[in-house]
Amino acid sequence: MKTKLFLLSAMFAGTLTSCIKDDATTVVHNYTDDEYAVLTQKLNLPVEVDEYGIQLPQTLGGFKTFINSKEATLGRVLFYDKRLSSNLEVNCASCHKAELAFTDGEQFSPGVTTERTSRNTLALGSFPSFTAYYGSGGTRMFWDNRAGSVMEQSTETMKNPVEMGNTDLAELADELLQDKMYQILFEKAFPNNPWQSNEDKMLIALQSFVSSIGCVNSRFDKAWADANGDLTTSYPSFTQEENRGKQLYMANCSSCHILTGSSFFGGTSTPVIAANNGLDMDYADEGIFKISSLPSDKGVFKVPLLRNIELTAPYMHDGRFATLEAVVDHYSDGIQNHPNLHSELRDANTGQAKKMNLNESDKQALVAFLKTLTDKESLAHVRYSDPFKG
Ligand code: HEC
Ligand code: HEC
Repeated sequence: MKTKLFLLSAMFAGTLTSCIKDDATTVVHNYTDDEYAVLTQKLNLPVEVDEYGIQLPQTLGGFKTFINSKEATLGRVLFYDKRLSSNLEVNCASCHKAELAFTDGEQFSPGVTTERTSRNTLALGSFPSFTAYYGSGGTRMFWDNRAGSVMEQSTETMKNPVEMGNTDLAELADELLQDKMYQILFEKAFPNNPWQSNEDKMLIALQSFVSSIGCVNSRFDKAWADANGDLTTSYPSFTQEENRGKQLYMANCSSCHILTGSSFFGGTSTPVIAANNGLDMDYADEGIFKISSLPSDKGVFKVPLLRNIELTAPYMHDGRFATLEAVVDHYSDGIQNHPNLHSELRDANTGQAKKMNLNESDKQALVAFLKTLTDKESLAHVRYSDPFKG
């Protein structure tokens, strides 16, 4: 009885000190003064936990993504911590820089050795909502779709001898927890939770952070919302060239590179998740085939979403194209007649590789439209930025 009373009053006191009510909102101070003093030795973190769920516009379903913000806060710190690599010099952000829509501008990226990655870094900021796109049982990760979750992807990346070079993630997580700062952040993210390992908590937190990334404030998104979700009309806030580019995009690109609702956002249409887009007749890197051994998967790769595409050069799994102009040239008249070339890129009558034969002004219009998909505002949000002090 005594213990019960004590517990009750402790809980009550806890509630009093941790919640301050004003008229409109309840502000929950996440840290005690002592905890905050420890954290702010190394980190710039807000006293109140940043909200990581994002409100999607009506055009994308109108719901708010559910992210555990305390996990994402820990994930943000881990994402930028160089202690996650064997030489203490590489963090996730070495290859995934927020201002470049979480890419790095390299064809292949340097990690902990003198070698480079064998593929071009995938953007993490090309989605309206990472969590909606990759959510439960949805799309798989990496250019060859080999990872089913960010936890799986992060395990592979951290253990990859070229990328982050760790051999034992359990040991790494335990080592991080020697640091008082991480003791606090792990406890906030996973309060009273002894049943999950530190390794799993580290991976879950990274997953929550990555899953929180989303970009829905591009000029396209605003114009689309103003048009009440109509993709076929001309947008008053677009130039004539951008509107022409949108038409070309809707006719030639949107079936694979979806802009819209689709099944991820509760819609019904199923987008093309992986395809061969006719880069070569013979692929040096055979993509999904290396995982599945199915001949129909030779030269088949993930179809990336294209928000922020302006920021993520160079392009394709091997970073072969330096510019969007070069990408558009490929689709206009360079598509190869690979046996696995997707039907969307074949001529409906002949079945041969499609020749769009765009003229110069059409090509420029298409590029102009692609640039309306840029959303620097979301990428610049402090909740995605490096929290470490100087
Ligand atoms: C040395 C560079 C490098 C580092 C460090 C790195 N990545 Fe990556 N990342 C890549 C490359 C390259 C790919 C594409 C690899 C592939 O498809 O085979 C990728 C792919 C991904 C993907 C898949 C995205 C998609 O759309 O399928 C995610 C998620 C990701 N990285 C998150 C992370 C996280 C989290 C970390 C830190 C734990 C990290 N990365 C560290 C280079 C890096
Ligand atoms: C059949 C589906 C399909 C169609 C249609 C299609 N693409 Fe692609 N696209 C892909 C695939 C698959 C890749 C990745 C291929 C690779 O790297 O091997 C890709 C890659 C790209 C990339 C590079 C993305 C990155 O992050 O590196 C851009 C840009 C692009 N496509 C633009 C376009 C444009 C513009 C059109 C219309 C003219 C178009 N695509 C039509 C399937 C398609």
